Amino acid sequence: MTVGIYFATTTGKTEDIAERLHGLLGAAEAPKDISDVDDLSEFSGHDGIICGIPTWNTGADSERSGTAWDSILEDIGDLDLNGKKVAIFGLGDSSTYTENYCDAMEELHRYFQQAGASMVGYVSKSDYTFDESKSVVGEQFCGLPLDEDSESDMTDSRIASWADKLKQEIPGL
Ligand SMILES: Cc1cc2nc3c(=O)[nH]c(=O)nc-3n(C[C@H](O)[C@H](O)[C@H](O)COP(=O)(O)O)c2cc1C
Repeated sequence: MTVGIYFATTTGKTEDIAERLHGLLGAAEAPKDISDVDDLSEFSGHDGIICGIPTWNTGADSERSGTAWDSILEDIGDLDLNGKKVAIFGLGDSSTYTENYCDAMEELHRYFQQAGASMVGYVSKSDYTFDESKSVVGEQFCGLPLDEDSESDMTDSRIASWADKLKQEIPGL
């Protein structure tokens, strides 16, 4: 059983969280920048995949992360990831960008779902203050939203709870 952690970042915050999650999930492999991955078929070698994505392209209909994830979304959708557990975490700013909080998570979630992956790591929206997010499904976010700009004091407890949840939801952790 192997679990991979992948991220993309513009100012380093998503990478930092990937490293901190790796510290909490010792059984997962060391985080990799998705822009260093030449062949997405390496996803198939994992039983679980954890992906980190920031939101930058505020209000855009598509390609909302402004990172290397944007150019491979459709390729991800074309993979066969049946049987894989996939969890997403997102970086955003719930104060300045409260109408678009962590929007980019939704996009990654949609394409992994299209690939047949079993999506895990959903988080209740009740512990967050924001106006709108495309990443909300019903009462839950489709992954773990994190805000290092306005709520960094909450990050430690958020990632610790999420790591515990993933240990229940992803075999091999
Ligand atoms: C120009 C700009 C646009 C942003 N747009 C959004 C946004 O639409 N939604 C959001 O939640 N955060 C937005 N953010 C906040 C970033 O997502 C946040 O700073 C994040 O931690 C950056 O992660 P990174 O360092 O991994 O790139 C924006 C930040 C900037 C500077």
